Amino acid sequence: MGSNYKWQKWSMAAVLGVAGLITTQLPARTVRPSTNAAQKPAAPAAKAAAEYVGMDTCKTCHADVDKQWESTPHYKMLQFKQKSKQGCEGCHGPGSIHVASGGQTPVPYDFPKMTEQAISERCLACHQSRHENMEFMTSVHFRQGVGCTDCHSIHQSTDRETLLAKPQPELCYGCHREIQPLLRMPFHHRVNEGMVRCTDCHNPHGALASASIEPGGQNKQLRSSPQGTAVCTTCHVDKAGPFVFEHEPVVTDGCLDCHVPHGSPNPHMLKVANVNQLCLQCHTGSTVSNAPGIPSFHNQTTQFQSCTLCHTQIHGSNFSPDFFK
Ligand code: HEC
Ligand code: HEC
Ligand code: HEC
Ligand code: HEC
Ligand code: HEC
Ligand code: HEC
Ligand code: HEC
Ligand code: HEC
Ligand code: HEC
Ligand code: HEC
Repeated sequence: MGSNYKWQKWSMAAVLGVAGLITTQLPARTVRPSTNAAQKPAAPAAKAAAEYVGMDTCKTCHADVDKQWESTPHYKMLQFKQKSKQGCEGCHGPGSIHVASGGQTPVPYDFPKMTEQAISERCLACHQSRHENMEFMTSVHFRQGVGCTDCHSIHQSTDRETLLAKPQPELCYGCHREIQPLLRMPFHHRVNEGMVRCTDCHNPHGALASASIEPGGQNKQLRSSPQGTAVCTTCHVDKAGPFVFEHEPVVTDGCLDCHVPHGSPNPHMLKVANVNQLCLQCHTGSTVSNAPGIPSFHNQTTQFQSCTLCHTQIHGSNFSPDFFK
């Protein structure tokens, strides 16, 4: 994973107010020593003098890299009109000095030695405008130092479409080990089985605050449905409503009032083991909740039936205010 080297640099600059000095003197607190032109003022002189030589020149020494690259979607970069966006140099920058030195002077964007943040900024020069990536700069991932090449591999990927470094869900488990056991619970979304993907619900490139399932909650990098409602209703369309008789928590708080998203030991991925216990969390007749208490004929000591045996349409109904069939 990347580091927050750059942020430290910026905050130091703010404190000291001598940004010019800092970029050259701050020790690089990162696993990837920063030597790229985008960060060090020492290099731009070289960068300014460098010129674009074209991909055919790169090929002469990097034939192996080129061969793989030609089979990826990035090959379309050769269609750009501007030289600065074409082929290898569209990412690595103008290569004339690198070539003249026989590879001894690095290319302006020497990614293997750059921070994740700096790499991401370079990628976003082309990818920012894509709907999918627009929120990346404000995403939890970016702010925590996760960058494009933590998940994508330009030159090593075996997936020619998405250029993922590893397939899902292994890619995500690599950093989110705590989620893995949840998806092995007795009742779970079948992510490991390949039926549902992490990215069906999450956008690893960030999300709008409005995508939160609980209004006003954190977005957790969640997608929303095409209608702008909670992501869950993308697939569970029958729960989306609107219903003539809504069950209030479904509408106001959302699915997570009663369900967990990944997996649970409880049937239907409910938050609690027993349906009745779930209902009675709210339907106690207390003044705290506006949920009505259960009528007196619901004798819980003699009647061990599940509430949903009778109140079957628990997500809302067009016919019955009491959510019967
Ligand atoms: C004359 C041969 C030659 C040409 C032409 C050439 N390179 Fe290189 N390149 C090298 C050598 C040699 C190295 C390895 C340098 C080292 O390991 O210190 C290298 C290293 C690199 C690296 C960095 C690898 C790393 O591990 O950091 C990149 C990126 C790169 N070249 C891109 C390019 C691009 C883009 C072009 C075309 C503009 C190009 N090269 C043209 C010889 C060449
Ligand atoms: C879309 C951006 C992009 C393009 C286009 C691109 N590279 Fe790279 N290159 C990278 C990144 C990012 C890395 C760092 C390693 C990684 O994450 O795959 C890299 C790494 C390298 C390396 C270091 C060795 C390695 O395999 O990791 C060489 C050499 C290199 N590129 C050469 C080239 C050449 C030659 C071309 C054109 C045929 C090219 N690159 C096109 C982004 C790009
Ligand atoms: C100079 C512009 C440019 C830069 C810089 C660039 N890309 Fe791309 N990228 C493209 C183009 C063009 C495509 C092909 C899009 C298509 O198929 O319509 C592409 C495709 C992709 C794809 C494949 C998915 C798709 O839409 O087909 C991924 C993933 C990707 N880029 C990631 C990256 C990453 C990561 C970086 C930085 C290391 C990067 N790109 C840098 C232009 C760029
Ligand atoms: C945390 C992991 C992660 C990070 C970080 C990440 N991506 Fe992705 N990206 C993915 C996954 C997973 C997919 C495939 C989604 C799918 O299969 O629908 C993807 C898909 C893409 C696509 C194809 C989108 C499409 O469906 O058209 C592009 C382009 C792309 N990423 C570019 C980038 C760029 C540029 C960055 C950095 C600014 C980046 N990604 C950062 C995981 C990531
Ligand atoms: C069915 C939709 C769905 C799928 C599939 C899914 N998630 Fe989530 N995930 C959610 C929701 C909803 C939340 C928000 C939970 C909350 O706010 O309490 C969440 C929260 C998270 C969080 C934040 C930590 C937390 O518990 O709040 C992480 C990390 C996460 N998911 C990772 C993953 C990974 C990795 C995968 C794939 C292995 C995955 N998710 C698959 C819906 C999903
Ligand atoms: C390189 C490590 C890395 C990879 C790979 C990665 N993540 Fe993350 N992810 C993080 C870090 C770091 C955070 C922020 C700290 C945390 O919440 O654990 C985070 C946070 C999240 C969150 C919580 C956002 C929030 O608001 O709390 C979700 C959801 C998430 N990641 C989903 C995914 C999914 C889905 C994938 C796979 C496509 C993925 N991540 C791959 C490192 C990674
Ligand atoms: C008030 C609590 C509550 C809320 C809120 C809620 N559910 Fe449920 N859900 C239940 C209960 C209880 C069951 C089990 C019904 C049974 O026992 O027959 C269930 C079952 C399900 C089932 C499996 C059975 C079926 O009817 O298909 C799905 C899928 C489901 N819920 C999705 C959702 C989605 C999506 C949301 C958000 C839009 C949501 N639920 C909100 C309580 C709730
Ligand atoms: C990409 C589609 C998709 C999304 C998005 C999705 N689900 Fe599901 N969900 C499924 C599928 C498919 C199943 C059936 C799994 C099975 O049969 O193993 C399922 C099963 C369930 C069940 C259990 C049904 C039962 O009968 O036990 C519940 C509850 C549920 N989902 C709730 C949610 C909630 C809450 C969300 C949002 C956080 C959500 N789902 C988002 C596809 C999705
Ligand atoms: C998170 C709190 C909450 C949970 C959990 C919950 N409810 Fe409700 N329920 C409400 C609220 C609030 C109302 C709406 C009261 C109103 O409209 O005045 C309501 C309304 C109802 C009504 C309609 C009452 C009427 O006005 O006719 C029934 C029946 C009902 N719930 C049954 C259940 C059952 C059965 C369960 C368990 C599966 C359950 N509820 C779980 C909060 C909850
Ligand atoms: C044997 C069937 C049955 C079972 C089991 C059942 N109910 Fe009911 N419930 C009813 C009937 C019948 C009504 C009354 C409908 C009416 O008068 O319009 C009702 C009414 C309600 C109301 C509406 C009260 C009001 O003031 O409008 C709530 C809330 C409620 N039940 C909750 C529950 C909860 C919680 C459980 C589980 C602990 C449960 N029910 C189990 C049949 C059942």
